[in-house]
Order: sequence, then C-alpha cells, then structure tokens
Amino acid sequence: MLSNMVIKEFYTISEAAEMLNKSTKTLRRWDEEGKLVAVREPMSNYRVYHRNDIENLFPDFLVDNNKSTDNYVKAENNYKVLELFAGAGGLAIGLEKAGLKCEALNEIDKFACQTLRKNRPQWNVLEGDIKNFSFTEYRNEIDVVTGGFPCQAFSYAGKRLGLEDARGTLFYEFARAVQEVNPPICIGENVKGLLSHDNGNTLRGMISILDEIGYNVVPVEILRAIDFKVPQKRERLILVGIRKDINVNFNYPKPYSKIYNLKDALKKGELFDCDVPVSNGATYPKSKKDVLDLVPPKGYWRDLPFEIQKEYMGGSFYLGGGKTGMARRIGWDEPSLTLTCSPAQKQTERCHPDETRPFTVREYARIQTFPDEWDFAGSMAQQYKQIGNAVPVNLGKEVGYSIIKFLNSYYNYLKLKS
Ligand SMILES: C[S@@+](CC[C@H](N)C(=O)[O-])C[C@H]1O[C@@H](n2cnc3c(N)ncnc32)[C@H](O)[C@@H]1O
Repeated sequence: MLSNMVIKEFYTISEAAEMLNKSTKTLRRWDEEGKLVAVREPMSNYRVYHRNDIENLFPDFLVDNNKSTDNYVKAENNYKVLELFAGAGGLAIGLEKAGLKCEALNEIDKFACQTLRKNRPQWNVLEGDIKNFSFTEYRNEIDVVTGGFPCQAFSYAGKRLGLEDARGTLFYEFARAVQEVNPPICIGENVKGLLSHDNGNTLRGMISILDEIGYNVVPVEILRAIDFKVPQKRERLILVGIRKDINVNFNYPKPYSKIYNLKDALKKGELFDCDVPVSNGATYPKSKKDVLDLVPPKGYWRDLPFEIQKEYMGGSFYLGGGKTGMARRIGWDEPSLTLTCSPAQKQTERCHPDETRPFTVREYARIQTFPDEWDFAGSMAQQYKQIGNAVPVNLGKEVGYSIIKFLNSYYNYLKLKS
C-alpha cells in the first residue's frame, strides 16, 4: 500500500491514521498529549500532520523501495555557473563536486568572501552589494545562474507582476542578473517558509516575474537534506526557471533511501574517512548548561522536571504545541535538527549527545557536509553564521547532477538540430 502512496508534506488525520494503522481517536489523543501534534497547512489552513513530525515518531513511516540508488551523471561539456548570494560556498562546492565550474560568485559579506578566496584562490569572487554589479559581460556565456536570495515581501495582489514591481528586493537583483545573463536555466534556493510567505503571494509574484523575463518555472519542490546524504533535517525550497525557448524537462534529484545520523557526521564512516577534527566552539552560559544537563540524548524540554520546564520556557510554556527544538539534545542515532546561524541561540539548542555544549565549528561544518579542508574566515561567530546559512554541500551536489542532466539533454538537442 505504501509504495502506491504519493510522498507529500502534509497528511490529513484519516490518511495519517490509515498509514500508521492507528485509529483517528488515537491520533486525536496523541495530539492532545503533544506526542504527535497537528499543524495548520499553510495554503488551506486545515489541521494536518506534517510528514517530519510523523517520521520523528516513526522513522520508517515512508520507507520507499523505489528510491534512487544514484543521481550521478557526467557533464558532457564544461558548464559554467554564476553563483549569486554565494555565502561561504555550500552550494558552490556542491555544484563543483557534481562537475560544474563556478565562473563567478557574488557575495556582500567580507568574511564569506575571504572564505571563498582562501579555499579557491582561482574563483572569481565579486565582493559587494549585488545592486552595484552588472552581469552583462556574462551574457550567453553562463549555463546556469544560481542564488539563495534572502526572502523579502513585495506587494502582489493577484495580478501579474513585472520585474519592476520587485525593485528594491534581492529577488529583483536575482531576476535582473538572470535577464542580463540569459542562461538556459536558473535556480533560486530558499527557505521552506517562502511557500507560505505572505500567504503564498511572494512566491506567486516571483513565478510571475520569471515568466515575464522569459522563464517557465518548474513546479516548486521542497528538498529534504536527509534524503541526499546529509545528516541533518534541513529543508530547502528550489525554484527552477527554464528559458522559454527550451523544451527539455528538468527533473529534481531522486531521494536516496539511506538516512545518515549524527554519528555519520562526527565519526569515521561512510560520509567521512576520519573522526571530526578538534576545533573551537561556543559554550552555553552556566544557567543553560545546568538545564541541558538534565536532558537525555534525543530529549527536549518536556524531559525536564515540571518546574524547570516552566521556568526555562517562560511565556512559550503556555503557548502549547511541540517546540521540539527547545532544550534539545541530539542523539547519535538520529540526524541533527536544522542548524541555525548561532549555535547557542535561544529556542533552537542542538546540544552535543555526550557533552553539554553546542557543536563546535568543525562539527557544525560536518553536519552541513562541508569537507574538513574547507576553512572558514572571521571570528568564531562569523564562522558559525557562514556555516548555518549554507546549503548543505551534499544537497548542492545532487541539485548539480539534475542541472547537468538538463544541460546535457539541451546541448544534445541543439547538436541534433544543427
Ligand atoms: C542564505 S545565504 C547563501 C548561502 C550560500 N548559498 C551557501 O550555500 O553557502 C545568503 C547570502 O546572501 C548574502 N547577501 C545578502 N544581501 C546581499 C547583497 N545585497 N548582495 C550580495 N549578497 C548578499 C548574505 O551575506 C548571505 O551570505
């Protein structure tokens, strides 16, 4: 039965009950007890269950035998990338590992630029605000423009939008670069929250602008990093535009069936050929450490004594809901929860399994599947920020294979035609 089920993000109570072989009454009880909490589906506002919450309780919930064994494909030509909002290079290294060549990268943050230059002196790093760069010199010279533009609202009232309507936003700059460069394909990357941002209007506006500048948008998908050899439950929204004169399909990478855990990130194994190198890392203030000392691996605030729960959670205690990220200690045998830009951030603690401390800088980098050799510039806080902002390298690599497959087909078609 499972193999016939479409894998989706949200399940109604009856779907979840059927798949878990439980009654809807049991699910309602679990909801009240906080064991499996229903959420509002962003588009319809119905109460539904999120796939991740179900999988936290039942890791084999969606084991799918049809999952791919390998997405690898060889690039048949030298494909060139213009990577915008490049940060410390998570996506860029992933694309490079897949076989694409970074022709130029733009980034405003001086420490992230130092990171890129230090590790890849041959890369052409264009440092500064994207608004101040023209990309016309790359016109028809680039195969793919990529970029994780920070998400900002612009007014969209259901009518078609043109590029000018987004002026002043970073999406405008992304789209302007695409228009100037005219690549066969462009890829925007963003947080999952873009789906529901301004009730979906922001995303609809972006799709309408890409349409206006000559790109058809492939149905948007959320990719889960854990499906792509990343030991972390991070999710990214991928926005793919294909130039309208091109009639070639883009296929998202197929998820792998094996899920990697924290142990695979920090210890010698299939992902890394040695234990994580020692490095510096943040610490918790004593008050937080005293609380987290009481939480077992895979536990969170609900594992604390009642009075401490109340004190630690403050106002959030009375808001109800899961908040499973608060006072969270990660277990060796589970993927890490999404890393943030600051490891000791309130409400998103991801404590080391054995020691009561945040992950070190190199542990952070491993969880994002950066190679150990990739050095980060700037203060410790700057380094955490660059890592926390990144697209996991292994996820970038799989997206890279999808781009290469698309470009191989496109250039083969052009050859046949000529
Ligand atoms: C989500 S991060 C990108 C992460 C990157 N793709 C990676 O995989 O490591 C977004 C980046 O956009 C950069 N940024 C923000 N505003 C910018 C601007 N006006 N011009 C250029 N870069 C900008 C930020 O400094 C940040 O590094």
